[in-house]
Amino acid sequence: MPPRQTASWHRVKVRESFAVADQIRRIVLDPPAGPAPQPGSHVDVLVPAAGGGHLVRSYSVVDDGRFAALSLGVRLDPHSRGGSAFMHRLCPGDEVTITAPIQTFGLTPRQSRYVLLAGGIGITPMIGMARKLKADKTDYEIFYAGRNRVDMAFVEELREDHGERVRVRYEDEDGRFDLLEVFGGLTPETELYVCGPVGMLEAAQKAWEATGHPSHLLRFETFGSSGRLPNETFEVVVPKLGLTVTVPPDKSALDALGEAGCEVMSDCLRGECGLCVLPVRVADGVLDHRDVFLSGRQKAQGDQMCLCVSRLSGGSLVLDLP
Ligand code: FES
Repeated sequence: MPPRQTASWHRVKVRESFAVADQIRRIVLDPPAGPAPQPGSHVDVLVPAAGGGHLVRSYSVVDDGRFAALSLGVRLDPHSRGGSAFMHRLCPGDEVTITAPIQTFGLTPRQSRYVLLAGGIGITPMIGMARKLKADKTDYEIFYAGRNRVDMAFVEELREDHGERVRVRYEDEDGRFDLLEVFGGLTPETELYVCGPVGMLEAAQKAWEATGHPSHLLRFETFGSSGRLPNETFEVVVPKLGLTVTVPPDKSALDALGEAGCEVMSDCLRGECGLCVLPVRVADGVLDHRDVFLSGRQKAQGDQMCLCVSRLSGGSLVLDLP
């Protein structure tokens, strides 16, 4: 898929790249000209596509004040042959093409209390948000969960910077946060920010609603590879165009269709806006819904999908075009 037309692209050098957890690297780049990143922002990066050309991948800025440069946290997707694998190969002195920081997950300044809930690499945008809340002397707490100690980056930095405001759960040792208990103890004016795998987002949405908090005080960020199933190659058939497209593990159905000449409307590319949702006529594998746009009931029905993030566990699916 071509870079979004509104983006302005900058060629910048890699200053440092080092491991901060198992499969997670901190990549420090020369900052592009322009304003400093706002809390919760990300940059888009042009990464080489397997079949030639480029894809756009988004990575959150890790803004903990430890580097006077642009710092990203990137988890290696075990199935990646593009984005995160490319990022993990970067060495000091290499050049990459990025946008200036883009903010789509900004803090709203209106609440007296904030809760930041992160799963795994979802901690990255929360780091700058927590720093800002601390600087503003706002009341906040950070809940950070991951599968185990080796998978979780930035734990020590967070503890150092935020002390007892950080609660960490190593799920293999401590189990999961009881979100009903956590949310049940919050005051009504608390605003919740969630970034993590889609299962965590769904659990948070459910518990938030069940504990009587209004949906407009729940804000969430998704990230690309947060599916329940591994990325596998699958086929998309579009009978209306007489088209059959192979979607490899490192490419979205939206990108693969676009490259084959079937442009589908899209915007967020993160499963949030619903613009790329198309009806599914037949799916002969398991649909791995990775969006937060469709409701649980719509996902269970299995007759539509967000092409920018959701996938099929192999096999093929037949899409209807409007
Ligand atoms: S482009 Fe927004 S949900 Fe796919």
